[in-house]
Amino acid sequence: MKTIIEPFRIKMVEPISMTTREERERYLKAAGNNLFLLRAEHVIIDLLTDSGTGAMSSEQWASLMRGDESYAGARSFYRLEAAVHDIMGLPLVMPVHQGRAAEKILFSVIGGPGKVIPNNSHFDTTRANCEATGAKALDLVIDEAYNPKLRHPFKGNMDIDKLERCFAEYGAANIPAVMMTITNNSGGGQPVSLANLRAVKAVCDKYGKPLILDACRFAENAYFIKHREAGQENRSVKEIVREIFDLCDASTISAKKDGIVNIGGLLLMRNQEWFDEAKNVLILTEGFPTYGGLAGRDLDALATGLYEVLDENYLLYRIRSTEFVGEKLLACGVQIIEPTGGHAVYIDAQAFYPHIPREQLPGQVLACELYKAGGIRSCEIGSVMFNEHGDYKGLELVRLAIPRRVYTQSHMEYVAEVVEEVFQNRANARGMKIAKAPKALRHFTCEFDYCE
Ligand code: F0G
Repeated sequence: MKTIIEPFRIKMVEPISMTTREERERYLKAAGNNLFLLRAEHVIIDLLTDSGTGAMSSEQWASLMRGDESYAGARSFYRLEAAVHDIMGLPLVMPVHQGRAAEKILFSVIGGPGKVIPNNSHFDTTRANCEATGAKALDLVIDEAYNPKLRHPFKGNMDIDKLERCFAEYGAANIPAVMMTITNNSGGGQPVSLANLRAVKAVCDKYGKPLILDACRFAENAYFIKHREAGQENRSVKEIVREIFDLCDASTISAKKDGIVNIGGLLLMRNQEWFDEAKNVLILTEGFPTYGGLAGRDLDALATGLYEVLDENYLLYRIRSTEFVGEKLLACGVQIIEPTGGHAVYIDAQAFYPHIPREQLPGQVLACELYKAGGIRSCEIGSVMFNEHGDYKGLELVRLAIPRRVYTQSHMEYVAEVVEEVFQNRANARGMKIAKAPKALRHFTCEFDYCE
């Protein structure tokens, strides 16, 4: 097979400012060793997130010019609505400014004290919005998801036995809906199979409960289904996407991922009663129902992006370039969550630095070393993010999230080279501690010192 090329040409470039190690050490120190507090211009390759960081196409920029900025009933809304009807098929379409706005509105309708919402794994904003209403957010992903080395084609699947036990324990009356996150971001960007979605839907039907998708990365999930699930290889990604959404009753979508826009989100529903209630909250917090906190041009660019993400040549390049980084790291002995996820490579920081105990934040140490060595900005997903209450038992990870259509093959090669160099020098790394922390969501703004 020939080299898989980026299926686009570049007609506008944004310069990267190159920095030296000495400069980066200075910037990092001034930022309290917190990568969120760096200026983006001091980063060479920014892998903090794949959210809102994608490059729009020439057609999307043309869509921006076409945007209709009418307060109510803009043409751009109807274009977006038609794209959603065609691709996802859910009848009731509500634009919002980003995914968490859809979550806040959804949980204001279905949440509340005493309620329980199962999911394969809740993303942190989903969990926070759910729990802010007094409801309980449960993660019921299959056990394989917790073992980084174990290869499973659909490590994002929900454990159906755990779901049945959840209904038995909490009672159907307290479970207003079941959620599924595709792909499973908190569990390594791992996909969910169609068979598993059907099985979850069957449990939902048995108890008369709606299935709600957190579908930010719906196209990447469908691509994995096409290439990994028996019997799906001859279908188009678009057909698979449609079947996925046909199984659900509602969906929250951060369009900053597979919508390939810099801002935007969707709340989709079939139930008119829910929708009417949601609309009241929308008007209160986001805006009129035909723009939902976005500009008309944002709606138009999203309508175009939803089609572009279904291009299978794009998806081949996208999934392959993430996998390429994963393979390179494994080849030089760096443990990652296997198999490589769709939007990101997750490095096992505890395996990387066995001599740094988790109280000394191995993930944060690694994220800082990657920045110092090569100007790469990544994100700790471990004790810094989750151990605010001292009860976190999950993995210590560093996520290299790949923005869509932004970096080329040589950027990815550079990333792998930098990780390898940091790995060669791993014995010299020292642990860290938190020097200063805010009251909540500390990972965004806290400061770190090195341990003695
Ligand atoms: N659900 C999932 C699975 C997500 O990954 C995100 C965002 C959201 C919901 C919330 O969407 O940011 O538009 O409000 N994930 C980003 C990330 C922030 O870096 O993984 P949002």
